[in-house]
Amino acid sequence: MPTVPRVVVTRGLPEPALRALRESGADVWVSPEDRALATDELHAAVSGADAVVTMLHDRVDDGFLAAAGDQLQVVANVAVGYDNVDLDAARRHGVTITNTPGVLTDATADLAIALLLAVTRRLGEGERLIRTGEPWAWSMDFLLGRGLRGKTLGIVGYGAIGRSTAQRARAFGMEVVYTKRSAGPDPGRVELDELLERSHVVSLHCPLTPETRHLIDADALARMRADAYLVNTARGAIVDEPALAAALRDGSIAGAGLDVFEREPEVEPELLGLENVVLIPHLGSATVETRTAMAELAAANAIAVLARDDPPTPVYEA
Ligand code: DGY
Repeated sequence: MPTVPRVVVTRGLPEPALRALRESGADVWVSPEDRALATDELHAAVSGADAVVTMLHDRVDDGFLAAAGDQLQVVANVAVGYDNVDLDAARRHGVTITNTPGVLTDATADLAIALLLAVTRRLGEGERLIRTGEPWAWSMDFLLGRGLRGKTLGIVGYGAIGRSTAQRARAFGMEVVYTKRSAGPDPGRVELDELLERSHVVSLHCPLTPETRHLIDADALARMRADAYLVNTARGAIVDEPALAAALRDGSIAGAGLDVFEREPEVEPELLGLENVVLIPHLGSATVETRTAMAELAAANAIAVLARDDPPTPVYEA
């Protein structure tokens, strides 16, 4: 008699994804906790699983894979980013890893533009002012921001989300330059130093890797224009947060819009006291449509591997 595969879902998912997993015939366990599981809880939960659907806050490393056991076939991460997964460990354990590219491209690009507008037009400051109940009045120079037409947007990482952000920015009349890994003739592609020196807004869209950790450090920030803004919807650790806080405090750049943080959910304390930074809690893909599509894609990846089919969006196939 064929055995029923066990699928562990480390945190609740939209119902269509859970339905798909159950209808595949798997025995599906979903964490009842609406929070990230602590490491010991996570390792206990995945023990004996054939497939695990993980969130970006779950660390998938040797400890996780050993705790799951040799029968584990696939870890389906519900995120396009997979910096929480140790791919070398996955190779060693012979476990397929999948992610969820594509379905969150528009939502994340929309949010990058929302942050770009929020910081350049000082929406956070205005909102905070009104909520204080302090008197305010329209005047010619009240809370002036900066316009976008004719300004340069520098996109660090020209993958799907970077390109979609560029497309939106061009509709606002911005010129776009970008860095991307692959070489070759490519109008608009520049080296990072040139991008930092030229751009009025720098928007980060590269994955977090050992090479991009603290890519935007004190030196990089010092290269930016004094009237430039930094937008980060990628991963917090691409930016050296204390160095960013110093640059914002000293006025060596004009402002920043941050959706992601190095030690989420903690935020560098100095950033909390600065007016020229807009802070939002990792909302890049946070629409009902997008989160449902991400969960369904992760479920489809897990189901395919368990059925010995090719998963739709593999990162590494064992
Ligand atoms: C991702 O998919 O990597 C996003 O950060 C999730 O919001």
